[in-house]
Amino acid sequence: MYNIAAIGGDGTGPEVIAEGKKVISAICSKKNVKINFTDIDVNGERYLRTGEILPASVLNDLKKFDAIYLGAIGHPDVKPGILEKGILLKIRFELDQYINLRPVKLFEGVETPLKDKSPEDIDFVVVRENTGGIYTGHGGVTRENTQDEIASQTMIYDRRTVDRCVKYAYELKRKRDAINQKYKDKPIHLVHKRNVLTYCGDLWYRAFEEMGDREYKDLKREYAHIDACNMWFVKNPEWFDVIVTENLFGDIITDLGAMIQGGMGVSAGGNINPNGASMFEPIGGSAPKYKGLNAINPTAAILAGAMMMEFLGETQIAMEIESAMKKVLKEMKSTNAGKMGMTTSEVGDRVAKYCV
Ligand code: IPM
Ligand code: MN
Repeated sequence: MYNIAAIGGDGTGPEVIAEGKKVISAICSKKNVKINFTDIDVNGERYLRTGEILPASVLNDLKKFDAIYLGAIGHPDVKPGILEKGILLKIRFELDQYINLRPVKLFEGVETPLKDKSPEDIDFVVVRENTGGIYTGHGGVTRENTQDEIASQTMIYDRRTVDRCVKYAYELKRKRDAINQKYKDKPIHLVHKRNVLTYCGDLWYRAFEEMGDREYKDLKREYAHIDACNMWFVKNPEWFDVIVTENLFGDIITDLGAMIQGGMGVSAGGNINPNGASMFEPIGGSAPKYKGLNAINPTAAILAGAMMMEFLGETQIAMEIESAMKKVLKEMKSTNAGKMGMTTSEVGDRVAKYCV
């Protein structure tokens, strides 16, 4: 029996999570796997109504679930930063979800803006560090609102945080190499900017090299600068298999990754604490302009649901959701909201139908 907290959140979040729940419930009941979703009301609406962002009691409750299934956080009437820091980052930090796992995989029938690139070429995973770096909010402002205002925000890393992330990435690389020769031919990449960020970059580089020498001598490894990595995502995405990187760089390259795999509508991710409650989400935002139109693409949420089942140990279920989703992607006219040639709920209906 799995207990899942479902946070629909803002904008189109609740609509896409509803489709994900539909699909997961359908396949679980076919397989006689018991799964129970508990809706948690945490979002911008609630903040505007009550002033509450994420009450401590709710945060505590979240820790008790087997996993968290999140739609989207972000409201046009709330100042940027409040909900992001108060809900999304708070959950990631407090639940120590130190890995943000973001697969970049182009499925058959999905359009990529990259000319001459096919599903064969675009199939890698970004392991984004998820609890440190510039996201920790170290810094401040003085002389505010004067001509001499000074602001700072510091990239912070400690060796333990780097090591545990690099370790996760090496282990993932080893797993992928074992399932596919195509992956094995490619190196694991560390991405940073160590030609300029000589302290943090060096810490990451040494952690990566030393662990590689010590425990993963059999794996090919390479280092790439973040700016060059951007270029190669567009020019030679087939070079990549597992990429490990710090928080902000990972945030930025995974938006580019989302675009080359067909857009925000299809890009899923997991905020993972290997020993605790992890949270799975479509990586696109709350898309307020599509709210309530039954037009948003729920694919990313459904794929995030598959990642969640995989994480829970239900590999077969995860694989079946993914293959059903692939079929529906082939039937879709476009992956963009409003242009799919079917509604949000129709996508969920079809995936659920192909699953059972
Ligand atoms: C993401 C988002 C978040 C991030 C924002 C909303 C805080 O962009 O999940 O990638 O920067 O991590
Ligand atoms: Mn982002």
